[in-house]
Amino acid sequence: MKTLERTLAIIKPDAVARQATGDIISMIEKKGFRIIGAKMLHITKPQAEGFYAVHAGKAFFDSLTDFMASGPILVMALEKDNAIKEWRELMGATNPANAAEGTIRKKWASSIEKNAVHGSDAEDTARFELSYYFAGYELAK
Ligand code: CMP
Repeated sequence: MKTLERTLAIIKPDAVARQATGDIISMIEKKGFRIIGAKMLHITKPQAEGFYAVHAGKAFFDSLTDFMASGPILVMALEKDNAIKEWRELMGATNPANAAEGTIRKKWASSIEKNAVHGSDAEDTARFELSYYFAGYELAK
C-alpha cells in the first residue's frame, strides 16, 4: 500500500566536508522525493545529544554527538509515497561495509560513524525528528 509520508534526512559533516551535498541531493531527486524543507546548520553538542537521545548511554553516543557537532550539516524534510522506508533503502546499511551498490552510503560513507547520511527509522521517529529541526510553516505545501 502507498502512503504519502514525510521523513527527515541529514547530510552529515563528513559528506558536507567532502562536497558530496550536490551529488546526494541529485540522488534524492532522481528517486522522486520532494524536498519540502532544507537548512544548513552547525549544531552544538547538546543539540546533537537531544536529537540522538534514543541512543543515550550507548558506547558510541559521545563520539557520535561530537561528530555531529563537528561541522555543518544539511537537514532536509523529504516527501514521497512510503518515504521513510524508501529513504532508508536509498541510504543503504548503517555500516557502509554492508551497504548495497547504488546506495548513498556505499558511495560516500567511510565508517559506521562517518556514514554520510541519516534517516528516520519509523513514523513516530520521523514526526519527532522533523519537528526537532522544522516548524510547520517552514515546510513547502
Ligand atoms: P544514524 O542513522 O544517524 O543513527 C545513529 C548513528 O550512530 C548511526 O547512523 C551511526 O552513524 C552511529 N553509530 C556509530 N557507531 C554505531 C554502531 N556501533 N551501531 C550503530 N550506529 C552507530
